[in-house]
Amino acid sequence: NLLAPARYLKAVHLPTQLPPDEGVEIAIAGRSNAGKSSAINAICETHKLARTSKTPGRTQQLVYFEVAPARYLVDLPGYGYAEVPAALREHWRGLIDGYLRERASLRGLLLVMDIRHPLREFDRLMLDYGMARGLAVHILLTKADKLPRGQQAKALQAVRNALEEVPVGVQLFSSLRSLGIPEARAWLEGQLGL
Ligand code: GTP
Ligand code: MG
Repeated sequence: NLLAPARYLKAVHLPTQLPPDEGVEIAIAGRSNAGKSSAINAICETHKLARTSKTPGRTQQLVYFEVAPARYLVDLPGYGYAEVPAALREHWRGLIDGYLRERASLRGLLLVMDIRHPLREFDRLMLDYGMARGLAVHILLTKADKLPRGQQAKALQAVRNALEEVPVGVQLFSSLRSLGIPEARAWLEGQLGL
């Protein structure tokens, strides 16, 4: 597991706090409470590396984890969380938009979706962003443990069919039941050039 050395670097609230734009980084994106931070912990196998919570809106900054020198995973705040005050939501939107548009080090997006609610408006938006910028995109259908096997396979096929024309990988995932971890890890290691 080449991601195991991951360590917390910093939480970025303002663009000026971003590390120098000269490394390689993969952002973990998805709707609020989808399971992004849990996925990072499961994939890196580093207990409590990223903070998780039952309450949506846990991750409130761009949280940087350094895996190797200048190789980063970036945990993004979840989008689509209505309970967050409007001003803060606008702040995040500006921060994330600017980051996605301008960050040269950004090579790929790990897009995390709850398998029971895939491809919502915000996921589509994120996919469009990724494609427009030529980023590598890989989709985790997480919380797969919430569905019986047969329905997991159906949901996977439905998302693959919907994205037939889009060059993305889609896989089943569960942080809770350790499903799909080697596959997700291999994708991240490849993108980070480890
Ligand atoms: P924000 O930072 O608030 O956007 O959330 P997040 O996407 O980082 O989600 P987080 O990892 O904090 O998980 C949200 C909730 O989902 C927590 O209660 C987790 O325990 C739960 N959860 C995450 N992954 C899984 C999974 O694979 N299976 C199940 N059953 N629950 C999960
Ligand atoms: Mg989080």
